[in-house]
This record gives sequence, structure tokens and C-alpha cells, in this order.
Amino acid sequence: MRAKVKRIFYFCMFLNHNQLDMEKKERAGFSSKLGVILASAGSAVGLGNIWRFPYEAGNHGGAAFILVYLGCVLALGIPIMLAELVIGRRARANTGNAFQKLAPGTPWKWIGLAGVLTGILILSYYSVVAGWTLEYIGEAVTNSFAGKQAEDFIGSFNAFTTHSWRPVVWAVVFLLLTHFIIVRGVEKGIERSSKIMMPTLFLLMLLLAVCAVSLPGAGAGLTFLLKPDFSKVNSDVFLGAMGQAFFSLSVGMGVLITYGSYFKKETNLTKTAFSVGMIDTLVAILSGFIIFPAAFAVGVQPDSGSGLVFITLPNVFQQAFGDVPVLAYLFSVMFYLLLALAALTSTISLHEVATSYLHERYGLTRKRAAVWVTAVCVVLAAGCSMSLGVGRGYTIFGLTLFDLFDYVTAKVLLPVGGFFISLFVGWYLDKRVVRAELTNDGTLRLPVYRLIVFILKYLAPLGIACIFVNELGLL
Ligand code: PFF
Repeated sequence: MRAKVKRIFYFCMFLNHNQLDMEKKERAGFSSKLGVILASAGSAVGLGNIWRFPYEAGNHGGAAFILVYLGCVLALGIPIMLAELVIGRRARANTGNAFQKLAPGTPWKWIGLAGVLTGILILSYYSVVAGWTLEYIGEAVTNSFAGKQAEDFIGSFNAFTTHSWRPVVWAVVFLLLTHFIIVRGVEKGIERSSKIMMPTLFLLMLLLAVCAVSLPGAGAGLTFLLKPDFSKVNSDVFLGAMGQAFFSLSVGMGVLITYGSYFKKETNLTKTAFSVGMIDTLVAILSGFIIFPAAFAVGVQPDSGSGLVFITLPNVFQQAFGDVPVLAYLFSVMFYLLLALAALTSTISLHEVATSYLHERYGLTRKRAAVWVTAVCVVLAAGCSMSLGVGRGYTIFGLTLFDLFDYVTAKVLLPVGGFFISLFVGWYLDKRVVRAELTNDGTLRLPVYRLIVFILKYLAPLGIACIFVNELGLL
């Protein structure tokens, strides 16, 4: 009997040892400090900043929305991003498993699983818009924007997005691109592509902003962007701004838990969260400085919805560089290329959440896990894309599938995820653990530690709850 127990004990030790060994060998990581920030900023900066931010701001009246948005980024987004990084690096596990590791046997695991599901839903409709950028690269390369007017751009955008199969094909192509980078692994795929692409995108946007602001008639756009009209602030503005902040920062579903798990123990989490938050906000504001002056200059309504960027930007290229067609050509090709790449670093992060979960939880190879995720997203993306065209007659709660996925993820699932993540770190997690992660085991000074804990304990959960209650009309 004793010998048997002994044998079982040794066998367990062997298994445990092997597992630890495997974890050491298999868990990839980001190699440099810059890589860490760029990969996280790569996830944050994407269509959310350049496509979604202007159209949400446009729908909600402009400057006042932007102010509420900035408040949400500072008071909710960045602290919750930090909470995600703490969870990820402590647990050294993907989102789905991290809560189970830090709070075994508790219902907290559902937050991680909900994050995985949210990621799949976002990826599905996001890749539809990402697919649009591929179509626009094609149009730019074949010089199809030349000589067109604002109405032409509206017409061709509507004709393309409602086409029965073209946008579906592009969405699938985009998902396949994401798939192949994911299969190549964390460091080679994610880190390298972010390092080159992010700074180039930023420079190009800066240049475009200068061009847009100097268009004749751009002044009205600047007023819309900078002069708040508080009479327009209602509960929808708060919900919209909060949703946009979570969406844009990639917060609330565990992308940053998964990325945090690849961080080195020397990485300064607070600095990383703050830098990523600032870069992301800067790009969104920059995008406002391109889109609104341009929209007013060419007579496109700022609340014209999801086509705003796709309709106004080709105009900017034509009008600003009309005299030098080669510049108009080069800038439009470069812009859509960079937009597609920015979207790619975000789809990679969304895909990674689900893939690493299936890989680590069910022991599937990364490749096989990725195939499952891609396959599910292809089906959902096709549904989202077709819901704007052939399936437009079918709505759920009055929304197309595309709009439903957007609403439910950005305005419900991400804030709810953020609410529980802040409660988890603010209340459940041992404060010694939180402090150790934030100060790298006491080696960093962190004067704002108390403030961060206060926000995670009280301000963030209460703020999110108030915005929901307000939206339901109970406040
Ligand atoms: N933050 C990305 C963007 O602004 O385009 C989109 C996104 C990525 C949202 C990852 C959520 C997420 F978890």
C-alpha cells in the first residue's frame, strides 16, 4: 500500500514538473520594452480610433461627447487596463484561465470566459469593417478615387457595403491574414508588425490632419470638435463615451490579461498602461482633426454613421492634393494600407484571446486552436456583413446583426467586464499581490498606488454602474 502511494506521489511530481517545464518552454513573451508598449498600443489603436471614434462623436454632437470620453479614459479605461495587466502578469495565463488560477473554485472564472466570448463577437463584426479597408486599398491602388465628388463616394460606399458577396470575401480574407500571423506566434507576428507600423501611421495622420484643417470651410469642423454644446449631453452620450473608451483601449474582455501574461517581470505596468492610454487617445483625437474639418469642408454630415471615414477621406485626398495627382494617389494608398495594418494588430489581439484559451485550456496545438476560432468568426462575420445588404430586412431589437454585435459588445459586455475586473483587483485580490505587481516587488516607487486602488475599489465600479442606471432611465 505504502509503495503504491509512493509511486503515485512520484508520478504526480513528475507530471507537475513536466507541466512547469512546459509552461516555461511554451509561454512566449515580448522581447523588448518598446515591443511591450507597441504590441499593447497595436491592440488599442485600430478601427476604433479612426473609424468608430469619429462616427460615435459625430452621432453624439462632437465636442461635449469628446470631453466625456476623455473623462472615461482617465477615470475608467486606464485604471482598468492596469487591473488587467496585474491579473495577466500575476496569473501568467490567458484570460479564460487567469481568474481560475487566481481565484480557484469561484465564479470569477465566468468573467474570463465571458471575455473570450466577447472577443469572438468583436472580431466577427470588426473584421467586416477591416475588410472594407482592403476594398479601399484596391480602389486607391487602381486610382478609382480620382475625379470623384462627395456624392460619388457616398454612392460607391453604399453600393459596396450592401453588395451580396464582395464585403464578405474581404472580411474572410482579413480573418485569414489574422489567422496566419497568430499561427506564427506572439513575438514574431505581433511585436514586429507593430514596431514599424505604429509610428508610420502616426506620422501620416499628422500630415493628413494638417491638410484637412487647411481645407476651405474646415473651420466649422473645428468648432464641432472643440466647442462643446452641453445641451446635447444625455444618458446616451455617457453610455456611448464609456463604450467607446473601453472599445478603443481594448479594455474589459481580457486582451490585456492575455498580453500582460507575456510581459516580463521588469515591465513597469503603470507606465505601460498610461503610455498606451495616451497613444490611443492621441490617435483618436488626431483622427477627429482629420475627419470633422474634412466632413464639413466637403459637405458630409458628421452624423452620417459608419461610412463617415470611408466617405470623407477619399475627398480629403482629392481636394487637398488635387493639383498634384501623384500625391493624392500615394497618400490614399498609404493611408488605407496603414489603416488595414492598424486593424490587423487589433484583430490579432482579439484572436489571440480565444486561441490562447483553447490552446492552454484544452491542450489543442496553437494551429488547431486558431483554426477553430477563425472558422467560427468566418461564419459570424459573413452574417454581420450580409446583415447590411441582402439581410437588411432581418433585425433583432430593431438592429442589424452588425449593429447588434457592435452595441452589445461595446456598450454592454466590455463595460460589464470592466466592472467585474475592477472589483476583482480592487476587492478580491490580496493587496500584497496588487502592490507587488504594481511596484515590481517593491523595486519601483509608485506614489499613485493608493489612488489606483481607490479608483478600482470605488470610482470605476460606481461610475460604470451609474452610467448603466442612467441609461435605463432610473437615475
Ligand atoms: N481597440 C481596438 C480598436 O480601437 O480598434 C478594437 C478592440 C481590440 C476592441 C481588442 C476590444 C479588444 F479587446
